[in-house]
Amino acid sequence: MQHWHILGAGAIGGLFATLLQDAGTPCTLLLRDNDPDLVAGNACITLRRGEQLHRHRFAVSACSDRSPVAHLLVCTKACDIVPAIAAVGHRLVPGATVLLLANGLGYQDQVRGRWPQLDCFAGSTTEGAFREARRSICHAGHGSTLVGQPGRAAAPDWFTTWRELPISCEWSADIDTVLWRKLAINCAINPVTALHHCPNGALAERPDLAALVRELCTEIRAVAIAAGQEQAVRDLHPQVMTVIRATASNRSSMLQDVLAGRATEIDYLTGYLLAQAQRFGLEAPWNATLLAAVKALTAGPAPS
Ligand SMILES: NC(=O)c1ccc[n+]([C@@H]2O[C@H](COP(=O)([O-])OP(=O)(O)OC[C@H]3O[C@@H](n4cnc5c(N)ncnc54)[C@H](OP(=O)(O)O)[C@@H]3O)[C@@H](O)[C@H]2O)c1
Repeated sequence: MQHWHILGAGAIGGLFATLLQDAGTPCTLLLRDNDPDLVAGNACITLRRGEQLHRHRFAVSACSDRSPVAHLLVCTKACDIVPAIAAVGHRLVPGATVLLLANGLGYQDQVRGRWPQLDCFAGSTTEGAFREARRSICHAGHGSTLVGQPGRAAAPDWFTTWRELPISCEWSADIDTVLWRKLAINCAINPVTALHHCPNGALAERPDLAALVRELCTEIRAVAIAAGQEQAVRDLHPQVMTVIRATASNRSSMLQDVLAGRATEIDYLTGYLLAQAQRFGLEAPWNATLLAAVKALTAGPAPS
């Protein structure tokens, strides 16, 4: 029987923990050492879907504990993934299954480079969830989840449980394309909304922002093609406009992070894209401008 440990028990981690538990899979939440729920020895997550509330109780464990971890689901923000895994690294058994389920690119290679003994998988989800309170999650929108491992065509045995979850959750034999497509769409939308403090729909309604999105798509396509990811950016601009219209009233996660004064995931979105541009000797000035502008928004005060 698989026993999943969840690192990053926020909106997406909490959602998947409840789904796995409902499917009969034991789950333990890995919490920071100062988390107050460690005193009680368990944590209750309330999941809301519309008017329906479901309460789930979970075993908890401090990251610094010693009991072994064989299946780890990582759902922190991209910038927290490496330090979070480092905090539980001593517990990971050789060959442990680690599924990285966050936005962006770059951290997957960092994790594989630092912990080559792990069996590392990557995922991308468009499920929509947000925290209404610390352990209260609203499952606001249904999407799809794709999981894979570069170079691996067939799903491993453990994925049977995931395929049976009551959401759309599929194995992808080409997860790199999936991750690049999501990255490309995120790079064209999220930084613009964060900088202009606007919902996604403004990017179709305002001619200046629509023109910016078109320029970004042109640059993103060129970089992706240079990186061998042509399939991921086929019809990128029409795809981006479809997403903008379908999510017109949404505030992107990057905008929400900026408004809350939190670090954004831009280093693993536009930052990753620009690193690839540099690798292939390409310029991406519109993306570079946005990276600098969004980072300036969330930079702390200059040291005096
Ligand atoms: N929410 C969505 O609808 C959605 C949809 C698609 C993709 N995603 C992606 O999924 C990822 C997670 O997003 P989210 O919305 O679930 O974020 P979130 O609600 O902020 O959850 C992240 C969780 O990670 C925890 N965490 C960070 N570092 C940790 C550490 N060292 N040890 C233990 N816990 C740690 C945070 O704890 P603290 O709160 O204590 O910091 C928080 O509970 C992001 O990459 C996001 O872009 C989200």
